[in-house]
Amino acid sequence: MKFLVLGAAAGGGLPQWNCGCRNCEEARAGTIPASGQSSLAVSTDGVTWSILNASPDIRFQMQANAALHPRHLRDTPVASVLLTNGDIDHIAGLLSMREQTPFTVFATNEILSVLEDNRIFDAVSKEKVARERIGLGQAFDLHDGLQARLFAVPGKVPLFMEGETVQTDLVGEQTVGVRLWDERSIAYYIPGCAVVTDELLEQIADADHLFFDGTVWDDDEMIRSGTGVKTGRRMGHVPISGPDGSLERMAGLRAAKTYIHINNTNPIWRPDSSERAAVLAAGWQVAHDGLEIAT
Ligand code: MLT
Ligand code: MN
Ligand code: ZN
Repeated sequence: MKFLVLGAAAGGGLPQWNCGCRNCEEARAGTIPASGQSSLAVSTDGVTWSILNASPDIRFQMQANAALHPRHLRDTPVASVLLTNGDIDHIAGLLSMREQTPFTVFATNEILSVLEDNRIFDAVSKEKVARERIGLGQAFDLHDGLQARLFAVPGKVPLFMEGETVQTDLVGEQTVGVRLWDERSIAYYIPGCAVVTDELLEQIADADHLFFDGTVWDDDEMIRSGTGVKTGRRMGHVPISGPDGSLERMAGLRAAKTYIHINNTNPIWRPDSSERAAVLAAGWQVAHDGLEIAT
């Protein structure tokens, strides 16, 4: 499998339009690379591609990656788009793919219902763009030669659908991870996960490569930096650091590991930070836009 990181940042991107935090300022100054919002492309042959989450930056992300350019008049190498939740950073890009070229959208019933309930998505013609309901545990072809299976991971409903009280560790169809495999290798993509449970560790034990939620380094990073009032866990994202953090919980996995969906407040963006050094020392990679990974 070939992976192409289209957007390594979490919702908001780096820099985020209204943020003057250290990372966002450095990204504006060009001292650290800017990054688009959460999206990963995958292919088995480098010709046909599937996009895992369609970010609001998709038009620029496709422009920046020649593999995703049309090969002739009105064409796309993108066979399908898979959605792992209904958040804006993962679905809004579909609106930029509305110009009548066929592809398939794969998602669970609950994630597809977010598209159904928001009429603006009717602009993406259902005649051209089939919406395929995928059940948890059901194997399907993401495109020819590339198989996939969805599984529930702890998470919550999309931010714009939150009610008065929010359960942040719901396990169901609203937040999923995906297992991808071809005849050579097995990869997992989990850009949002509220808790690293024993069940999840069991599920991903056979991974050759893991792309995992790197939203925040510390659970209270946004509160401490004055950029927000919510913890990472409250946003449905387990922190990297700490006793229940992904770094410690996933130390025993044999997979090559890459942090993705990284919030603009996360110190691992900065090449000289001790947090980035800790992540690299533990064998993880930090994604950046344009990163190519073959497995
Ligand atoms: C998240 O991952 O927490 C969401 O992308 C938040 C958002 O929609 O801005
Ligand atoms: Mn997100
Ligand atoms: Zn910022």
